[in-house]
Amino acid sequence: GYWTDPSYPYGNGSQTMASVPSLASTLQQQLADALTAALPDAGTADPLLRRSDRADFQANGILALAKKLKGNPRELAGQVTAALPAGELIKDIEVSGPGFLNITLADRAIVETLAARAADGEGRLGVPLRPEAGKTVVDYAQPNVAKEMHVGHLRSAVIGDAMVNILEFTGEDVVRRHHIGDWGTQFGMLIQYLIEHPGALKHEGGATDGEAAMSTLNRVYKASRALFDSDEEFKARSRDRVVALQAGDPETLELWQGFVDESKIYFHSVFDKLDMEVRDPDIVGESGYNDMLEETCRILEETGVAVRSEGALCVFFDDVKGPDGNKVPLIVKKTNGGYGYAATDLSAIRNRVQDLKADTLVYVVDARQSLHFKMVFETARRAGWLNEDVKAVQLAFGTVLGKDGKPFKTREGETVRLEDLLDEAVSRATAVVREKAEKVGLSEDEIVENGRYVGVGAVKYADLSTSAVRDYKFDLDQMVSLNGDTSVYLQYAYARIQSILRKAGDAVPAAHPELELAPAERALGLHLDQFGEVLAEVAAGYEPHKLAAYLYQLASHLTTFYDQCQVLSADNAPEVVENRLFLVDLTARTLHRGMALLGIRTPERL
Ligand code: ARG
Repeated sequence: GYWTDPSYPYGNGSQTMASVPSLASTLQQQLADALTAALPDAGTADPLLRRSDRADFQANGILALAKKLKGNPRELAGQVTAALPAGELIKDIEVSGPGFLNITLADRAIVETLAARAADGEGRLGVPLRPEAGKTVVDYAQPNVAKEMHVGHLRSAVIGDAMVNILEFTGEDVVRRHHIGDWGTQFGMLIQYLIEHPGALKHEGGATDGEAAMSTLNRVYKASRALFDSDEEFKARSRDRVVALQAGDPETLELWQGFVDESKIYFHSVFDKLDMEVRDPDIVGESGYNDMLEETCRILEETGVAVRSEGALCVFFDDVKGPDGNKVPLIVKKTNGGYGYAATDLSAIRNRVQDLKADTLVYVVDARQSLHFKMVFETARRAGWLNEDVKAVQLAFGTVLGKDGKPFKTREGETVRLEDLLDEAVSRATAVVREKAEKVGLSEDEIVENGRYVGVGAVKYADLSTSAVRDYKFDLDQMVSLNGDTSVYLQYAYARIQSILRKAGDAVPAAHPELELAPAERALGLHLDQFGEVLAEVAAGYEPHKLAAYLYQLASHLTTFYDQCQVLSADNAPEVVENRLFLVDLTARTLHRGMALLGIRTPERL
């Protein structure tokens, strides 16, 4: 990841130092122990600890327990309170309502815990590794050879990249798979065209960039398509070419490889624009499973999971029916003997489970493919490739809409080119950055670099900040707005802290647990405490938007804190200045880490 960037002052998170239990988890443990001590026959009971407006936390679990034991909940709550260890964690605890516990933590405990987190030098901020970590394959960023990438591919890339980062950060062994569409009958037409028009893929001047690669591919695609649709003989020759390709004819394969290589140049140029790392060995396209297709079908047929129907090999499902009421099968082998998308995905599952030894498969794919994955996963379960110990999930995402609420298109009704969209975002963002540049003292190079980070960040954040499965409107004006739930708002929050730290002169961030905290300091501190838990939740539920929401709330707490607490004020005692610098510094580090996990950079000056 790029946060190994040497200019980043806080370490790169590659090493695990001490993990620091959150205040919430320590409190949860103490309450659970107190419950067991007060009620030995209650078994293990969950105190159901929640954040609360009335106090820092509320424990609601006693009510249910009292019901179960037929006891008086308020009395029980009193017993639990009495059984809590005398320590420095809790400042105040009271029984309220029918038997809730309202708990206020000691300021000292808050600052000490945060200080332990801050002391974790490697940028992990004390975030514990998840005990349930295993091996996950993430299938994401899967464009198709010889075709333009579209906004759907953008979503898969952005969401998948964030999930990979978060899973790795929480201790998961992650294998990335870019399941690109590099196989299929359309290659017969493309290759045949190339044979009849040698040099069609060549560029003037030799070396090629992504844009040139794509425009050449587009030209070849359109020309061969036109010929295919108008010329019956070319069509027939194209069909023969598919057979040659499938039979592994060397000359045909070499030409096919040319298309794949040319496309990869284009893909990489888009991923570079997205400021995203895509490694070549992780690109295992559909063709990578060709050797397995026959065996996959044989196993499915022999085990009776698939049956012959009208000449095709099919898997049927009771709950998948067409409009006519007849069952719609998953076709694993076509009547003509060809294999399709499903056979490839089933073979990929076998590879990922049996060879890569993954226990979780995550597919970051458009919700419009949900039926396909439902059928593929169910087939794999029937075949025993997936089971209780090996699960597969589709992290399905919705459609990107234009301002008019219809699927995102250009005014001419064409799909929007990703490169154009990113360029536009960067140019708007650069204008925003430029407005403040003089005041901040940015050089032209910094303006250009920041414009890129703000623009690309805006696009990524807009995608990541709503629940993936929902459609969202692509609105660049909103995305680069300085106010509201945008990446640039978070980037400014980070840069503002850096500016305060630079202005602090001799004062350095230092925790002072002996100080009494102002309400806004407590609120900020308690929110900082939740970082690890949010990451664990995001990793377990594949919901990166919850990390975005957490970071946005963090920045909002920071704004309230600035309103109520001066950091570098001459009226402050030196230890108050140091303690506040400590709080904002930890906030900056949390913002930086969280944004990096989302794939978004945080410039030091903005
Ligand atoms: N290439 C496909 C598309 O553009 C997405 C591939 C998704 N992954 C998979 N294993 N089927 O729609």
